[in-house]
Amino acid sequence: MSTATKGLEGVVAAETEMSFIDGEKGVLEYVGIEIDALARHSTFEETVYLLWNRRLPTRAELDAFTKDLRAHYDLPAPILTLIKTFPKDAQPMHVLRTAVSALALFDNDDPNSVEPDAYRAKGLAIMARAPAIIAAFDRVRSGKDVIAPDKSLSFASNFLYMLNNEKPTKTMERAFDTCMILHADHGLNASTFTGRVIASTLSDIYSVMSGAIGALRGPLHGGANEGVMHTLNEIGSLDRVDAYMKDALANKKKIMGFGHRVYKAYDPRATYLKTLAEQLAKDTGNEQFYKMSKKIEDIMHEAVAAKGIYPNVDFYSATTYHCLGLKLDLFTPMFALSRISGWAGHCIEQLSANRLIRPSADYVGPHGVAYVPIEKR
Ligand code: ACO
Repeated sequence: MSTATKGLEGVVAAETEMSFIDGEKGVLEYVGIEIDALARHSTFEETVYLLWNRRLPTRAELDAFTKDLRAHYDLPAPILTLIKTFPKDAQPMHVLRTAVSALALFDNDDPNSVEPDAYRAKGLAIMARAPAIIAAFDRVRSGKDVIAPDKSLSFASNFLYMLNNEKPTKTMERAFDTCMILHADHGLNASTFTGRVIASTLSDIYSVMSGAIGALRGPLHGGANEGVMHTLNEIGSLDRVDAYMKDALANKKKIMGFGHRVYKAYDPRATYLKTLAEQLAKDTGNEQFYKMSKKIEDIMHEAVAAKGIYPNVDFYSATTYHCLGLKLDLFTPMFALSRISGWAGHCIEQLSANRLIRPSADYVGPHGVAYVPIEKR
């Protein structure tokens, strides 16, 4: 009889000072500050500083941190050359994982160092360069020139600028920056756990990031935001939501963007994203996506809220990213651009009190089986 906890539900496998989640009450805090306050008042850069240093920066500290981040916006030239060799129909998450991994080859400052300061510096550089990887690939696959980063711009603004060759409006920059804040960290989720496991072997941060990006890609994790958009596109119009949902619920189909291992109440990130999606949908003439989403939510509420299934961070992210003009297959990379900060922070925490993460498995196969030579099988 196996004693394994399926999916490690409820298993506490690490300590963290970065984010606190109360899944029953729907609370998320970064270093004790409610996510709503950060979404309203902070910036992504300040939030990353908070996560990595466990306190808000002074003006001078934030300026120095921002300057350091911007100094690493450029991609090494061979990475750009590499991106140009990728198939144009490659999935951006595969591109991101491959290019982040390849960054190790052009790190002349001991890519394998596991000193906390080195991990932090390398994490910062990976975070600074990831937007350039995605933007460059998107432009190359569309037959457009690659746009060099603009170091006078914020993380959010620089990404949208490199993607569109046009500086975003203040509203767009703020909306995207808010998405980055909301996605930065979230306890021991699957990709962060993956990263911590890799860091615990004293492997390099490029391996950590590649593994974590791979875990995030899955449709049960960060890939769900693309799944939501596929659902909205498949439904197509508001009047078809009822029939789609009736069929989906009758067939016990999982609806992307709903449910969470930890939240049994409304995900506070979804609360914020819902408001953002509604506003952006109005501003950009995409109201049908918001209305369809809202109707799906209402139907799900009737059907499964009693089971603790509510919209998660991915549900209204889909409409938000669509309204920001992002292509569907860039949605999950957007999650990664932000979560790199959380992965780096967790790995620094892991290394500060490291012990190899190595759980056990209950063996449930046979014993005493005779070896049969191949010619007798
Ligand atoms: N739609 C319909 N029913 C659902 C959903 C959903 N999205 N999610 C869970 N349920 C139901 C299950 O069918 C199951 O019902 P049952 O007890 O009658 O069999 C029950 O809720 C428990 O579901 P599990 O899959 O066992 O819950 P678990 O904690 O393992 O999974 C997960 C959590 C993977 C997030 C799940 O809710 C899911 O697949 N959601 C859809 C994908 C998604 O949105 N993922 C993003 C999560 S947020 C993030 O990673 C950033």
